[in-house]
Amino acid sequence: MKILIINGSPYKENSTTLKITRAFMEGLNETAEIVHTIDLDINPCRACYACWVKTNGKCVQNDEAITVLNKIREADLVIWSIPLYCYSAPSHCKALMDRTVCFNSAEMYLGDDECTHHYGYEDGSKKTVLISSGGLPDVKGNFDGLVFQLKRMFGENTATILCAEAGLFLSPETEPLTLPYLEAAKKAGTEYKATGLISKDTQMILDVPMIPTDMYIANVNATFSAMKEKN
Ligand SMILES: Cc1cc2nc3c(=O)[nH]c(=O)nc-3n(C[C@H](O)[C@H](O)[C@H](O)COP(=O)(O)O)c2cc1C
Repeated sequence: MKILIINGSPYKENSTTLKITRAFMEGLNETAEIVHTIDLDINPCRACYACWVKTNGKCVQNDEAITVLNKIREADLVIWSIPLYCYSAPSHCKALMDRTVCFNSAEMYLGDDECTHHYGYEDGSKKTVLISSGGLPDVKGNFDGLVFQLKRMFGENTATILCAEAGLFLSPETEPLTLPYLEAAKKAGTEYKATGLISKDTQMILDVPMIPTDMYIANVNATFSAMKEKN
């Protein structure tokens, strides 16, 4: 299986989100290519629509997005590893997401409950997984925009791992909380390989905050206060 990981974190290899993605990969027991969007020259989409009306799906810009779009085309599974920024993707990663409109048809169609251009990938057989982490303590609401985008763009069957309270990954002291989360992400990878899905039980572990909200908020506020005092 050809797997492409698109890492939207500016922390690159030190990304919390990528740590969770790596645990998922361990469960998948496959190798993958990683692209770090922060390092790439990716222009915004110019909305010229040449890809829809002139070039049969080829983007006419000449930048590094073209290489990534080709890698996406060739992959069997694309894992978007995206830290949550303002309830969406970081702008350099969003620029790449916008550029994938060249995978879609110009023709609008009426689906069951939406009208869209988005057929998903060209032949519809490609799989997509979204792995995201956020510093806020809630999954519900917080990740809704990003999940909606990815599912509308790449298919309702896009599997998701959404890690709230990701600040807990930043300290070795909280490993007793984060290691079980990573174990669950690994299990999700194993299940995904076997069935193309994450089981309900595993999804429940991944979707539940690691510690109570009030405790997490107190912890984060104390950490930022201490950082401010130092400066
Ligand atoms: C500009 C910016 C916006 C952010 N917006 C959100 C947000 O809307 N919701 C949230 O839960 N966390 C938000 N965060 C926190 C990051 O999502 C969080 O720290 C994440 O775990 C970083 O992952 P990474 O280490 O993979 O980059 C934001 C951080 C930054 C820098």
